[in-house]
Amino acid sequence: MADTLTKLAYQALQGGKSLMGVAHKEVSTKLMELVAPAGAPKTRPIPMQMLKDLQASQSALLEVDWQEAEQGLYPTGLLFDGPWLDWATRYPLVWLDMPSTWARRSDRNVRDLPQEVQSENYPDYYLQNFHHQTDGYLSDHSASLYDLQVEILFNGTADPMRRRVIRPLIEGLRAFQGRPASQLRVLDVATGTGRMLRQLRAALPQAQLVGLDLSAAYLRQANRWLSQLPSELPQLVQGNAEELPFASGSMQAVTCVFLFHELPGEARQAVLNECFRVLEPGGTLVLADSVQLADSPQFEAAMDNFRRIFHEPYYRDYISDAIDDRLEQAGFSGIRASSHLMTRVWSATKR
Ligand SMILES: C[S@@+](CC[C@H](N)C(=O)[O-])C[C@H]1O[C@@H](n2cnc3c(N)ncnc32)[C@H](O)[C@@H]1O
Repeated sequence: MADTLTKLAYQALQGGKSLMGVAHKEVSTKLMELVAPAGAPKTRPIPMQMLKDLQASQSALLEVDWQEAEQGLYPTGLLFDGPWLDWATRYPLVWLDMPSTWARRSDRNVRDLPQEVQSENYPDYYLQNFHHQTDGYLSDHSASLYDLQVEILFNGTADPMRRRVIRPLIEGLRAFQGRPASQLRVLDVATGTGRMLRQLRAALPQAQLVGLDLSAAYLRQANRWLSQLPSELPQLVQGNAEELPFASGSMQAVTCVFLFHELPGEARQAVLNECFRVLEPGGTLVLADSVQLADSPQFEAAMDNFRRIFHEPYYRDYISDAIDDRLEQAGFSGIRASSHLMTRVWSATKR
């Protein structure tokens, strides 16, 4: 009985988030067409069949999310986790930020970054306003809005999609059975504001967690969110995923979520090579990013609209990139993949 009520509460929460996400996007698109027509992206209409497929895929995702919590892969409480009060108070800022986003889109200005940014510290591909967002990834303002913006973009399914990393990760860590959980090191590459680390902490309460990102501002935000947890704070490190500042063989698992579609092809390969290097033999990489044309051709129009609406300069290349081949080239084997709504999850082992 309690389980049924909890499941219903979870479905109601997700239903509410979905409605809010759809309503937000409808209203903001209409407003942009009215106020800033030059910046309004020319999107393709979504066919009715695709809407049905998306809905079915979303229900399947939420069902797996529920089932895996029931199986004990992570606590059921995680399904309800979110900085709700913070998001509610920050929501008006998302609206206030919109005019400057529209202006950048109209002017095709994708290098509008804070003046104090020292560009020599970052790869050139990074110095852009991904999603046309104010300050790119390079300010506290951007970091404070990022999670809420992602929540809206995915109609509240960002965390359910991130959690699809947990099962292959736990299965991969079985290679180190017998080792105390506190001696397992798991690195989250491009951790951003730490939402994935939050999910990992709930699933692996004793493991040593490390998060790496290029953005000091996003790591500060991650620090704020993660310090609210009663468990040990993950180690947060600023660095480039193409040159991981960790010793070879020092990690038992590596995760990387929603990074690859924002990298040029060579950088994707460099990151995979580095993930391979830092893993101990037997270790597992779990990678999650957008679905691709080969595995989800039915969502082609949604993928195309995504790159039309947001500044995502490497997305078109990413959706036809052969990630399996890249994993093999880096040295990985035992490659497996599955799709969950708009996210593809790969797992691979370092033999
Ligand atoms: C779309 S966000 C994903 C963040 C997070 N993983 C999540 O699930 O929300 C991409 C992140 O990748 C980081 N990033 C981009 N290029 C990077 C690089 N070469 N090295 C490290 N981090 C990078 C950005 O700073 C940003 O935080």
